[in-house]
Amino acid sequence: MGNSENPSILAAMAGITDGDFANYCLLEGGAGMVTIGGYPIGREMITASVKVAQRGRKEFILQVGKEASEILREAQIISSLTSLIINLRLNNLKDTRKFIHRFEDLIIERPIIEINAHCRQSEISQIGGGQGLLQRFDVLTNIIKAFHSKDFKISLKVRGNVIHPDILIPRVNQWQLDFLHIDSYKTGEKGTDLGLLEHYVNEINAPLIGNNSVVDKKSAQAILSTGAQYFSVARAARKNPLIFKTFVKNF
Ligand SMILES: Cc1cc2nc3c(=O)[nH]c(=O)nc-3n(C[C@H](O)[C@H](O)[C@H](O)COP(=O)(O)O)c2cc1C
Repeated sequence: MGNSENPSILAAMAGITDGDFANYCLLEGGAGMVTIGGYPIGREMITASVKVAQRGRKEFILQVGKEASEILREAQIISSLTSLIINLRLNNLKDTRKFIHRFEDLIIERPIIEINAHCRQSEISQIGGGQGLLQRFDVLTNIIKAFHSKDFKISLKVRGNVIHPDILIPRVNQWQLDFLHIDSYKTGEKGTDLGLLEHYVNEINAPLIGNNSVVDKKSAQAILSTGAQYFSVARAARKNPLIFKTFVKNF
């Protein structure tokens, strides 16, 4: 999965990373893999996203019951489904199963599903989604199992500073994730928390995607030097979707 000679990934930005943006980063920009989303799944999560949008944040608002077909439409814009990650906001097993059931019937090749345990918007975390999933390992475990049982590869996206590695690492190793994606920074400090990435690399049985503050070749290389197999870029790619070309050469 992915391309070991091009370890760069476009990270999810809700309201921005749609099919057109991601495909541009993949084809013209030089990204190794690209993410679309985050997309809310189920009535509760969609309602939460509407509330977030009402206070001015960009969001992807989907129609309840139409999530699978609307996401498929964006996914099909991407020229290679095996280079695609779909970032999803989920908060319960019932809506997850409904989504998988509809989505697996529609899609031929399997993209990677990224479970968003990262979002800290209160409308989402209060109903147990985003970062709230890290307080609900039973639900998260069942969501991961549901996707794995239908042969989807799973990336789990977290903020590294909201959960102690001693708590997350044993779970990651039980879940048999296909990727762990860590937004790694220290609150109030600029730059990437490289020490945390190094710690995870040594302890987990899944490839690591290191994230936060990649803006150029030096910062990308710093993440790879921790042993992380991939690095991802959000804000710098929003400014310049062609950025991947500049740091991918010679990796
Ligand atoms: C406008 C915006 C929207 C975002 N939306 C999502 C999202 O929906 N899901 C997610 O996992 N991360 C989301 N993120 C987080 C980014 O993927 C990334 O983890 C974070 O911006 C740090 O990486 P960067 O320093 O390269 O920007 C968002 C970030 C921004 C700036």
